[in-house]
Amino acid sequence: MPSFPLPSLEYPVTRKYPGTLFTPISFGAAVAVLVFLTAVNVALAGYDTVPGLSSNFNVTQHHWYDKFLPEAAQTRPGTLCDPRLLGLGDTITTNNTLFQYTISSIDKANAGDSGFQYAGWTLDNCDITSLFVNANAQTIAMDITAVVACHSTPSQIAQGNDYAITIRADWSESTLPGHYGELLGAQKALNRRSASGVGPTSPSDPEAPGTVLHAVTSVSATDFAEFTFNMLSLPNSTFPNYFSFEADFPWCPAFLGPDAPCAAHLPSLNISSIFERVPSTVAGLQFDASQPVGPGNEPLMNNDTFGIISNVVQVAYATIRLDLGNRTPKNNFLLNTSLIESVIVKSFPQHTTSMPNESFLYSTLVGDGHYASAASLVPGSDSDSEDRSIANLLPLQMPGPALLGGVYLCRFQRAKSPGSAFIAVLVATLKGGEEAYRCEYVHGAFEVGEIYKSREI
Ligand SMILES: *[C@@H]1O[C@H](CO)[C@@H](O)[C@H](O)[C@H]1NC(C)=O
Ligand SMILES: *[C@@H]1O[C@H](CO)[C@@H](O)[C@H](O)[C@H]1NC(C)=O
Ligand SMILES: *[C@@H]1O[C@H](CO)[C@@H](O)[C@H](O)[C@H]1NC(C)=O
Ligand SMILES: *[C@@H]1O[C@H](CO)[C@@H](O)[C@H](O)[C@H]1NC(C)=O
Ligand SMILES: *[C@@H]1O[C@H](CO)[C@@H](O)[C@H](O)[C@H]1NC(C)=O
Ligand SMILES: *[C@@H]1O[C@H](CO)[C@@H](O)[C@H](O)[C@H]1NC(C)=O
Ligand SMILES: *[C@@H]1O[C@H](CO)[C@@H](O)[C@H](O)[C@H]1NC(C)=O
Repeated sequence: MPSFPLPSLEYPVTRKYPGTLFTPISFGAAVAVLVFLTAVNVALAGYDTVPGLSSNFNVTQHHWYDKFLPEAAQTRPGTLCDPRLLGLGDTITTNNTLFQYTISSIDKANAGDSGFQYAGWTLDNCDITSLFVNANAQTIAMDITAVVACHSTPSQIAQGNDYAITIRADWSESTLPGHYGELLGAQKALNRRSASGVGPTSPSDPEAPGTVLHAVTSVSATDFAEFTFNMLSLPNSTFPNYFSFEADFPWCPAFLGPDAPCAAHLPSLNISSIFERVPSTVAGLQFDASQPVGPGNEPLMNNDTFGIISNVVQVAYATIRLDLGNRTPKNNFLLNTSLIESVIVKSFPQHTTSMPNESFLYSTLVGDGHYASAASLVPGSDSDSEDRSIANLLPLQMPGPALLGGVYLCRFQRAKSPGSAFIAVLVATLKGGEEAYRCEYVHGAFEVGEIYKSREI
């Protein structure tokens, strides 16, 4: 008979663990492990991750179990939300919402090849670099474009977030009734005033910056319109009925601080090129500051035009920087009224006797009530006391730094419904308990085996 191997049959033999302490310790440990596992699993399996929206990129969530976690394991600001992705032509505002900007170029992308991603940082790295103005007496309007450059700060570059973008704000200023104001902050303040019937009365009112923006841009348009027409009515007028210029500014973002040399002084009026046409001539005249001054390239700004040009530039510089949260009281007359005298041209050379020579802008800022008509030229206001009240809103009190406004897609933890939380915790705890039991059993058996082995030898 050929012999082939038969499987040997076995039966398990159970034995009590020796000693009296092993069993109670084992049960005690099992209960402790069960409680621990349940608590851990409520934290781990009792919540769902759900998408949600937040306007605060730094939003955090706090849970009851946070106090058992080390600081480093808790949710940190900026980890729940996805950055906002922006591309060329996208429209953005700051949380001061005075101006509306479009992204006009992404010179260095930080998202893919050509995108810009914004992760909630304050706009300490943005500042106005140029202003473009077309003033046309025929249409009684000034078209203005402010160009703002944002570059990564040294600390952002150190974190691998290197970018450079250019944004632009476009608006036109006109006193004509058929002209709808494009300035966000000004329009918002106007809407509120027409809804509630009253404007802000103190600098700390949230609508104060918008109201001041509306007033200063309206009255600088008035200055242009009034003085242009007055001067054009003179037979010997040399005041241009059309002028167009570019003004440049040193880049002086907020991260340099309010005491940086560029923030402590008002930048000099730097007109890099200007074109103008006086009514008596067909051809225009042009000046380009980058070319040598000489016949055919002579500085065109004269005493007649200087005041209008300078005031338009100062108003744009001060308001754009406020919107960017670049608060420098040493060179912003809206934050420091003692600067008005030196920054704003008070009066224009008088050409006709029919009207005073004082600037509407100056009059509005100091509230001297010089112009009864100035108030009526400020749409929405009905008396010159209203006009005078602009001075009561100065100096403006701007809250902290500015952010880009927007909404972020975030991932929040939400407690499961009691039924599904119970099942999820139960399943996870059973699994964990099983593992723990197995470990303990194997470990215990191993120890007992060791004891027996040592006895037998
Ligand atoms: C968000 O958090 C980051 C890092 O903590 C910080 O640098 C940034 O200023 C915060 N932003 C705001 C708006 O608080
Ligand atoms: C222009 O004419 C007015 C009066 O018509 C005169 O007072 C003024 O001095 C003249 N200006 C220039 C620059 O000739
Ligand atoms: C004026 O602007 C131009 C162009 O940005 C610049 O090169 C020049 O240095 C500026 N001049 C002054 C006096 O700021
Ligand atoms: C401009 O005004 C100043 C003083 O206000 C004067 O000295 C200068 O001659 C004027 N220039 C012209 C071109 O009228
Ligand atoms: C306001 O401007 C004046 C003149 O430049 C300056 O001396 C003063 O310190 C400024 N005020 C503040 C609060 O910075
Ligand atoms: C404006 O008028 C006032 C008085 O009416 C005069 O003192 C001042 O010199 C004038 N300003 C200019 C720039 O002509
Ligand atoms: C804009 O956001 C910054 C940072 O959170 C804040 O300090 C500032 O007060 C906000 N500005 C406004 C007008 O709410």
